[in-house]
Order: sequence, then structure tokens, then C-alpha cells
Amino acid sequence: MSRTIDLTLKVWRQKGHGVKGRLDTYAARGISTDMSFLEMLDVVNEELTLADKEPIAFDSDCREGICGQCGCVVNGRAHGPEKGTTLCQLHMRHFSNGDTLVIEPFRARAFKVVKDLVIDRSAFDHIIQAGGYISANTGGAPDANAIPIPADTAELAMDAAACIGCGACVAACPNASAMLFVGAKVSHLGLLPQGKPEAARRALAMVRKMDELCFGNCSNERECEAECPKEISITNIARLNREFFKAGFFSAEK
Ligand code: SF4
Ligand code: FES
Repeated sequence: MSRTIDLTLKVWRQKGHGVKGRLDTYAARGISTDMSFLEMLDVVNEELTLADKEPIAFDSDCREGICGQCGCVVNGRAHGPEKGTTLCQLHMRHFSNGDTLVIEPFRARAFKVVKDLVIDRSAFDHIIQAGGYISANTGGAPDANAIPIPADTAELAMDAAACIGCGACVAACPNASAMLFVGAKVSHLGLLPQGKPEAARRALAMVRKMDELCFGNCSNERECEAECPKEISITNIARLNREFFKAGFFSAEK
């Protein structure tokens, strides 16, 4: 049954990268428990706008858990307290009347704060540009099922392909590592026959770019796996490590 709750929000406000930020306090009153977290922020922003105050900047696009644009840290948890849920799919029924919520951007050296809760995730784009693709020759589409793929392999590849590039894994990791993200990409491409010819070059190039962009390394904390809204398994990091070492020792790729 729908009900309303009142909350106190402590929201990170920061005008831009390199500018000192601070937590500001706002009251969120009469919030329907049927609302999503982002809709709750919309309500607060409407009140701020009507009061001639600067609305809270936050990112979103699909609001269906598929684009990876939303995301901030709520009471210390990336995407909030619900497992396997993006911030846009998090409903206010998971909070109680009178709760205080501390809302901060995803923090990592490679993710600069653009404004308030908005971060620059273009470092992920640079990692994808380095190798997160397959090269396909032009020509007619191949016949369906021309390349048989075992069902178990297809399932593993599809599970890894569920990564939406939100960056929660980086924000949750004490080393700000992007290994879960890169592991997911290397797995979903490298497990399939179409991705195998470039597997060695891909693993080397993506890891090199990740290091260059100041992401940390994995030290098996598993915070990334716990906070990932798509529940990407840490076994993808093990696969990335195997691909990386195999490429370094046994391939001609540099
Ligand atoms: S691995 Fe999970 S947390 Fe990391 S970018 Fe992909 S979906 Fe987001
Ligand atoms: S807005 Fe697209 S995943 Fe949340």
C-alpha cells in the first residue's frame, strides 16, 4: 500500500572539479514510497527551483536500469542499500520515515566530479576504445547458427555482457579498481568465437589503458561484486588475469 515518508537528505554539493564541496542538508517531505530514488530527487529539485535555489545536479537517462548513467553513494553504498539494483530502480519503500540519507557522488581519481552528484565516466569510454570491441569485416550477414556456441559459454558471455558501465564497482573498491568492468568486457567478447582473434591484444590494451588512467589494482576485497547492480561475478576478474598473462607470455602482441 502506498504511503508517504519524510526524510532528511545530506547531499554533496560541488560546483565543479577542483572546487571545494560540502554536504548540504535538505528536507524531503511527503515522499511516496512508490517513487524511485531519482523521482524523490526530482521532487526535492522542484522545491529548490520554486524557492529560486540551485537544483541538485545528478545523472540519469533510461531510468530502467540499463544505461548506466545514474548512480551515487547512499549512506556509504554505491547505488544504495538494495542488492542488484541501480539507483533509478531503487524504490523509496526501502527507506523508513525519519531516515537521514547521506548522498555523495561515486568517488575515484579517474572519475572527476562535474557537478554535485554528476561524475565524468569518460575514462571507461577510453578503456573501451582501447580494445572493448571486435573488428568485423563488412559483407553479408552470416547465416544464423553458422558458428555453433555451447549454451554454457553463451550464458557466461551474456552474464558478463550485462555490465552497464555505471562505475559502482570502482566507487566501491578501496583501490578504485576498474577490474570488474574490464573483466566483464574481456569476458563477454573473449568467450565467444567472434572475439577470440583479438583476445590477446584486447586484454593487453585494456589493462594498459586502465593503468594509464589511474585506476587501482584488484586486491580481492570483493566490494565491487557486492555493489554491482548487475551482479557481475568476480570470476570475470580471474578470467581477465588469465587472458592478460596468456597474452603477455604466449602471444606476439606487445
Ligand atoms: S561491473 Fe557492475 S558495477 Fe562495474 S560498471 Fe559494470 S555494471 Fe557497473
Ligand atoms: S538511469 Fe539508466 S541505469 Fe539508471
